[in-house]
Amino acid sequence: MCGIVGYTGQHEASPILVSGLRRLEYRGYDSAGLAGVDDGRIEIRKRAGRVRSLEELLDERPMRARCGISHTRWATHGPATDRNAHPHLGGRGGRMTVALVHNGVIENYAALRKELESEGFQFQSQTDTEVIAHLVARELETVDEPFLAVRRALPRLEGTYGLGVVCAGHPDVVVGARFGSPLVVGVGDDEHLLASDAVAIAPHTARVAYLQDGEVVRLTPLDFQIQHLEKGPITPRIDRIDWKPDAVELGGHAHYMLKEIREQPETVTDACRGRLVRSEATAHFGGLNLTARQLRRVRRIVFAACGTSWHAALVGEYLIERLADLPVEVEYASEFRYRNAPLDDRTLVFVLSQSGETADTLGALREARRRGHPTLAIVNTVGSTIAREADGGIYLHAGPEVGVASTKAFSAQVAVLTMLALHLARLRHLSFADGTAILEAIQSVPDLIGEVLRTEPRIDEAAALMTEARNALYLGRDIHFPVALEGALKLKEISYLHAEGYPTAEMKHGPIALVDRETPCVFVAPKGSLHAKTLSNVEEVKARHGVIVSVGTAGDEALAALSDVFLPIPEAPEVIQPLLAVVPLQLLAYHVARRRGCDIDKPRNLAKSVTVE
Ligand code: AGP
Repeated sequence: MCGIVGYTGQHEASPILVSGLRRLEYRGYDSAGLAGVDDGRIEIRKRAGRVRSLEELLDERPMRARCGISHTRWATHGPATDRNAHPHLGGRGGRMTVALVHNGVIENYAALRKELESEGFQFQSQTDTEVIAHLVARELETVDEPFLAVRRALPRLEGTYGLGVVCAGHPDVVVGARFGSPLVVGVGDDEHLLASDAVAIAPHTARVAYLQDGEVVRLTPLDFQIQHLEKGPITPRIDRIDWKPDAVELGGHAHYMLKEIREQPETVTDACRGRLVRSEATAHFGGLNLTARQLRRVRRIVFAACGTSWHAALVGEYLIERLADLPVEVEYASEFRYRNAPLDDRTLVFVLSQSGETADTLGALREARRRGHPTLAIVNTVGSTIAREADGGIYLHAGPEVGVASTKAFSAQVAVLTMLALHLARLRHLSFADGTAILEAIQSVPDLIGEVLRTEPRIDEAAALMTEARNALYLGRDIHFPVALEGALKLKEISYLHAEGYPTAEMKHGPIALVDRETPCVFVAPKGSLHAKTLSNVEEVKARHGVIVSVGTAGDEALAALSDVFLPIPEAPEVIQPLLAVVPLQLLAYHVARRRGCDIDKPRNLAKSVTVE
């Protein structure tokens, strides 16, 4: 899940490439590099480490080229070293004619490497990517035109790629190619850009063209053209980026994650805007592309997703089964795509993805569609591959999410799923009065989240208790079980503490053996139908001298009395409690990670958008 930026125009490329890489660092940050063509010769600068270490290298050895490509890496093949950093050079006999950056995985690279080595191409790195650079260089020896050379080399590859290529002797040409990994073109007046995500392009232009699988693009300062490997010339569709460039600025917050946690009242408001219809006591979605009649025919829903999106889908399962009495299954997308799960023609498949580029979720979408099932998508990133390939869907409107640990997107997903449950239920047997009560509850969420955010100082107290822990158990019953899973994932992702989420009653069947002073138990236990049962479970941990942190309804003295730290959320109907209870868990993980000195926005080994299997 690397980040690619390319530029050709009137300005020096390296400052534009570097600021673009900074905006893509959420995709990978173990090494960075760039290459440009100046005076017909390829110049290259690369180094292991963050983008800032590349900037230090450029301070020592500036690059003046006005055309270039760049890369920030999430290693798939070979450790994070200067040699394995991108760009990689292609050529033989001491003439390196190609520089190339790549996002994806080449599965047949070993065989190609052997073939190329037998023809005199020498390899400097352990990466799969370097074979592509040499393949293009080999083609360039016969055609001497970068666009054609790249198109002739690509059919030899098995796997996925997003590529940026520059070639010696072609001072203002950048070639890009996409198969499986996202690439977007930025359309300027006398400049053109290439990037893995529009976030990197936004400061330069709002006009973008999203590349599809199999498309190759040739950029020059004044023009760009797209060819599909099989279909030939493509007329590009120009879209507009619908958010402000400063949406991805920190805005005075210490970290993107904290900024995005604090944005959640607005996030939920934006997710609900124009969708709640009081006169019908229901919610409407403009992009489902299914009639009420078709939705009433649905007898089963399957959600497929990964990570935090999978947890949101699980909340959706509880809500839709409770309100609409419709059976729901939640599948790990990576399992669903290969498991051949039986799906009948009255099953509706949804995939959920913040980025809209997660390879396994895209695979699940394609598998369901290949088997003839209309597949809808709940997505945040407009113009993403999943959004474009789905038969219909719902946008989250949460704006760009930069923090690797997803927070506001989870809340937007749960808000959308709560509205979807209301919509499906009102199409079946939910009364106008009950519908109105749920609609009003959803409308109250932004203010209630605001109240929870004001308890941040208390949450930091709980963080102090957990900073020295070895493990942590997160526990929730019913609709709070997925919230417990999400809380545990947040702690793991950014503080590197081991944590597990469980249905509370499951404790007695094993995990309770872990209870001691170094394994805090975090109970997600707002007041509701199963509260008394949860209190007994808290008692069981108390009896074993466990450390108890609880998220509960303000004024719940019984729970507060049992807890080492009690984190209150406002009184609220059960159907919206997950949207409130997750906020203290997000802030808890944030403050534990802050106290442990972890790199919160760029946690180790992770990337924001997982575009490889
Ligand atoms: C969540 O904090 C993680 N970044 C990760 O689990 C993420 O939810 C998962 O990779 C799915 O991403 P998506 O929603 O963009 O498809």
